Amino acid sequence: MKPSDLDPVVDALEAELRPYRDSHHTYRRLPSGGRDRREILDEMRELASREEAKWRAGYSSGAVYHGSADHIEFLNEVYAVNSQSNPLHPELWPSAVKYEAEVVAMTATMLGGGEEGVPTVCGTVTSGGTESILLAMRTYRDRARAERGVAEPEIVVPVSAHAAFDKAAHYFGMRLVPVPVGADWRADVAAAEDAVTKQTVALVASAPGFPHGVIDPVEELSELARRKGIGCHVDGCLGGFVLPWAERLGYPVPPFDFRLPGVTSMSADTHKFGYAAKGSSVVLYRSSELRRYQYYKTATWMGGLYYSPTFAGSRPGAISAEAWAAMLAFGEEGYTIATKALLETAAVIRAGIERIPELRVLGDPLWVIAFASEEIDVYAVMDQMSARGWNLNGLQHPPAAHICVTLRHAQPGVAQRFVADLEASVADVRHMPGSQGVMAPIYGMTGAVKTRGTVEELLARYGDLQFKA
Ligand SMILES: Cc1ncc(COP(=O)(O)O)c(C=O)c1O
Repeated sequence: MKPSDLDPVVDALEAELRPYRDSHHTYRRLPSGGRDRREILDEMRELASREEAKWRAGYSSGAVYHGSADHIEFLNEVYAVNSQSNPLHPELWPSAVKYEAEVVAMTATMLGGGEEGVPTVCGTVTSGGTESILLAMRTYRDRARAERGVAEPEIVVPVSAHAAFDKAAHYFGMRLVPVPVGADWRADVAAAEDAVTKQTVALVASAPGFPHGVIDPVEELSELARRKGIGCHVDGCLGGFVLPWAERLGYPVPPFDFRLPGVTSMSADTHKFGYAAKGSSVVLYRSSELRRYQYYKTATWMGGLYYSPTFAGSRPGAISAEAWAAMLAFGEEGYTIATKALLETAAVIRAGIERIPELRVLGDPLWVIAFASEEIDVYAVMDQMSARGWNLNGLQHPPAAHICVTLRHAQPGVAQRFVADLEASVADVRHMPGSQGVMAPIYGMTGAVKTRGTVEELLARYGDLQFKA
């Protein structure tokens, strides 16, 4: 395939990224005089209202995890109250210190640390799941370098783990050693054991993983890590704020947190099922000795003594305040009620998918439900679902799609509408073979877009498009 063959795909992507090209002014230089604030707000409200209908009505997978009008209004007020706060200046905003420390403490207690669990569990607030993972991986690299003299660090990572681990390896000069998953889509423990070498700095488990929503055998993996004297990071970005409450509700949740002695760090996203605003997550460590490897500090900078716990320098204190406020507004009871609604809705969706003979649910998931098909093109089904307004996630190896169920789907009738639309989409694909739309190749890089070079070219063009005015 020639790079020019990508043009129609890139055009389709551009149309999706830039629907306002023709209807709204494009700024390529500053306006000569400042615009009226009211007018700016009106324009933004108009754009937001065009975009809101889709996620509000529950047509997206993941993306908006709570989204009720009163909760959004509450978080917006919290932002407004704290909009100037920057934890880089704790002397000006000690409230930010309080909020962040308490977000960490409450998350640690929820995940087997704190007063009722392992008292030494500690952590930091970060900007999202990816930053939590990047920080943890770099922490293990630096610890292994300092304490074991590891010069060519490796991380052992199940192939179902989030791409952020690959990004960490890429950014921090580590080798990612992939571990296959079994027929149940959970990491293969024996293969993980074979993958550990003297250079291994950490082993990863997901609770659950993004693609198929299944929980790795964390108990066995963390025990393996303990035996080998390496770190074990449990990625609870998706599950950290769901599994504790699912367990309390009696769902079959295997041990996954700091109650397991081999678990040395975790990530849990306040901005997903913690129902906070976008831009916050928590990374936790079993001990403050380990956390210290995360900090950056310099005593020689001309600008004075400088310390920063995460990647950013200045940080939005208001986002941390929103995480604190969301956690207080829900409390244990609120999260338990929300989780009950989430998991009951997911069960309806899973049962609906299982009733469709052409589709097969992958593994035994609770609320991130992936499906594949041996009979029809699942990406064509995704295209048909897109035509019906849905926004699902495409997976590959093998071709599959998933829906990450959120509270948006727990609104009356949404789960039923999803199942009915999926049945209709499957029927359409069955009766119109070859009905693959223009986006299908992108979901799984199948069909027309085959070679790795072409895929990388496509992704690079996408990147260029994203910041082109
Ligand atoms: C399991 C898992 N880990 C990590 C991440 C990365 O989180 P973020 O997009 O907040 O950086 C995600 C995102 O969906 C995830 O599902």
